[in-house]
Amino acid sequence: MLISQALNEKINEQIGYEFAASIQYTAIAAHFDAESLPFLAQHFYRQAAEEHQHAMKFIKFLIDAGGRVEIPVIAKPVAKFPFAEDAVKLSLEQEIKVTNLINGLMDHALKENNHIAATFLQWFVSEQLEEVSSMDQLLKIVQRAGESNLLLIEQYLAGNKRAGASKEQGEG
Ligand SMILES: [Fe+2]
Ligand SMILES: [Fe+2]
Repeated sequence: MLISQALNEKINEQIGYEFAASIQYTAIAAHFDAESLPFLAQHFYRQAAEEHQHAMKFIKFLIDAGGRVEIPVIAKPVAKFPFAEDAVKLSLEQEIKVTNLINGLMDHALKENNHIAATFLQWFVSEQLEEVSSMDQLLKIVQRAGESNLLLIEQYLAGNKRAGASKEQGEG
């Protein structure tokens, strides 16, 4: 076994937080989908899939390290958002909370001199910079557009998607 019991338990908790983030993003996506805002919906369905992948990365790491996977109870997600801004604010808070949790895991791994775990966790540390900054940007855009102009955000996300697609084509 390449990880301590204590680190194993902390990673199981983190698996719970990643799945919780995934279902919270699914709930937000479904909210926007029901409001006929397809690009916002797609954006959050994609975030949900990413969080699911994060949980799976932790599961694979535990198995590779000879640990035991125990997925905790996942809290019920928030499902109603009077304003689009509320959903994006909650998302940013969630990303900041996860960043602090990842930092805590890293502190724990370093305290145990577990370089295998620290190297594995480094990917999540870098990922959180991207997650927090992109959600912060979306929040600013939603605030700038205002609740009566949510179609502007749809247009913005549609443009981003096109830009991303042409970039991928250029790379391919
Ligand atoms: Fe995550
Ligand atoms: Fe995230």
